[in-house]
Amino acid sequence: MLDKSIPHLGVLMEKLDTGKYPNYGLPSGFTFVRYEAGFEHAWSQLQYGLGQTNSLSEAEQIFQDEFLSNPEALLKKCVFVQDSIGNIVASASLWRGNHFGKELQRVHWVGVLEQHQGKGIAKALLTRIFDIYRGMGFSDYIYLTSQTWSYPAINIYLSFGFKPYLGEKPLNWKSDDVTFDDEKTKAWTMILSKIREYESSKSAAR
Ligand SMILES: CC(C)(COP(=O)(O)OP(=O)(O)OC[C@H]1O[C@@H](n2cnc3c(N)ncnc32)[C@H](O)[C@@H]1OP(=O)(O)O)[C@@H](O)C(=O)NCCC(=O)NCCS
Repeated sequence: MLDKSIPHLGVLMEKLDTGKYPNYGLPSGFTFVRYEAGFEHAWSQLQYGLGQTNSLSEAEQIFQDEFLSNPEALLKKCVFVQDSIGNIVASASLWRGNHFGKELQRVHWVGVLEQHQGKGIAKALLTRIFDIYRGMGFSDYIYLTSQTWSYPAINIYLSFGFKPYLGEKPLNWKSDDVTFDDEKTKAWTMILSKIREYESSKSAAR
């Protein structure tokens, strides 16, 4: 689940050294699969169950509009993880984004079913996304949008070398310049404090 106990603010992250990323594989019993007809239901349940959409129908509409409208990219760039009995337990995509006023590649819609979290599935998905990115000949820039509520994911993105985007308000961002500057400072203070808390509780447990 997203941590909705803290205020919601959107953030962006970016990475320029796209050839450098850790090499994680899936834990045993899980496999990567491409989209097959019907996966949209599992994807929608996954995203809604994690709190990433407000309703199941919103998730279904997003999959329809973003992914099913581009079947070729869907097959190449949307990754699903299946367990040993064929259930979809996670997904992530490499997708186009237009926040900066031109088409750029981004990491999109990362989610892992709660009962399978903490097994290294998201890390393996990200390695896979970078492999796809490079395999498709992209090389110089990748970004993502996220939110304060997703600080566990942001911690993973940091470990993959993504940096907080601290530049000017992107052209297609839903706030004005002053609000963006103010919010990005507040958001990163909150996120980094949550991550510090997590990392120090890990070292205390060692
Ligand atoms: C974030 C999410 C994708 C992680 O999936 P996962 O398969 O459990 O992640 P992994 O097991 O591969 O990696 C675990 C890592 O998450 C990070 N993490 C987990 N809990 C954390 C917490 N409370 N605070 C900070 N970082 C945390 C750590 O980096 C951890 O690595 P470590 O074990 O070496 O410390 C999953 O929790 C999820 O689906 N969350 C809700 C949806 C979401 O926020 N998506 C991203 C939108 S941008």
